[in-house]
Amino acid sequence: MIIRHAKGVTSKQARTGWPEGTYEDEHGRDGFAGEVSMLYRAHPPTRWTGIEGPLKPRAIDSAAVRPTDMGDAAGVPTRLLYNDDVHIYVSRRRAPMSYYMRNADGDEIYFVHEGTGTIESDYGPLEYETGDYVVIPKGTNYRVVPGSPDNFFIIIESRKGPTGFPERGMLGQHVPFDFALLQCPDPQPILDEGGEYQVRIKRADEWTTVYYDFCPLDAVGWTGNLCPYKINVRDLRAPYSERTHMPPTTYATFQCPGFWVVTFQPKPFETAPDAERVPAYHRNVDYDEVVFTHSGRLMSRAEDQGAATLTLHPAGMHHGPNPRAFEAAKKADRMEAFLVNIDTEKPLKWTDAFTGAEDPNYWATFSDRLVPVAP
Ligand SMILES: [Fe+2]
Repeated sequence: MIIRHAKGVTSKQARTGWPEGTYEDEHGRDGFAGEVSMLYRAHPPTRWTGIEGPLKPRAIDSAAVRPTDMGDAAGVPTRLLYNDDVHIYVSRRRAPMSYYMRNADGDEIYFVHEGTGTIESDYGPLEYETGDYVVIPKGTNYRVVPGSPDNFFIIIESRKGPTGFPERGMLGQHVPFDFALLQCPDPQPILDEGGEYQVRIKRADEWTTVYYDFCPLDAVGWTGNLCPYKINVRDLRAPYSERTHMPPTTYATFQCPGFWVVTFQPKPFETAPDAERVPAYHRNVDYDEVVFTHSGRLMSRAEDQGAATLTLHPAGMHHGPNPRAFEAAKKADRMEAFLVNIDTEKPLKWTDAFTGAEDPNYWATFSDRLVPVAP
């Protein structure tokens, strides 16, 4: 439907010149791409006095999670959130994996929050560093070999199909990044024999171990279009407008069946006098939104949340600027932040590890009427 109505007190154009005393609330379908109306409200819809039920906004300190791979070379990452399409894990691996991994449940997107090292695979080694996305296709034999003791990964497992890239359409081929930046490995076979080598295969979250007396990473060459690859967030160059606030989809990095991975990145604030710098309130009724803070903070927040904070905003529940974000955005020239945003079509469930690291007051930070309670 292309007909646009304008009833009552509205701005001339969304995202600019909110009428005095109003708060813009985006009511849209299909994330930020579908039919939409902007409502101009007399109160922020997040000025709640209480919430009961599963849609409460949640936040955890993911650095407080202690995966078994943190202290055990044979350990595994810890799952935090999941649905049929995507599982999200944290890994703190300090020592080289004592086994080779083959994930038969899905592709894995490793986001390197901290650390350096190498991911050895059938296709050859890929060195990683802080800020890298490393994509490992379903079924690849691989092993993570940390080069520093501080490795911290968020792993996004795509269970319904391969990792792809959003359509770029009118943006052309070089925005939000040049595909030539994707790096893939050169073969480097490990021709060790003797000893025992394990390949642990994960299928339907159950493990099968295969034993060899030679290293399984013995491919002397490869040809095709399926392989691990990486790109660093500093190489992303999302489009920007000085006259209007761009929607989150502008920053989309990967698209997988049932979810998107979006990278919020440093940008100057809008400079047009009537451009709103903070996002509208929204209830993103078709997607759950997960945001992992790599560095800095979103323009919708006035206070730092701390690196490694991971938030969950379930579909249907409002979120948006917290009470002091409007003033904070006026004083700053830029948003200096990298954040990994995962938007899922299906509702996410959370694990005990997630709730064990939860900030019980997060939901209250959106409302200036609430005084946080002691945890
Ligand atoms: Fe959002």
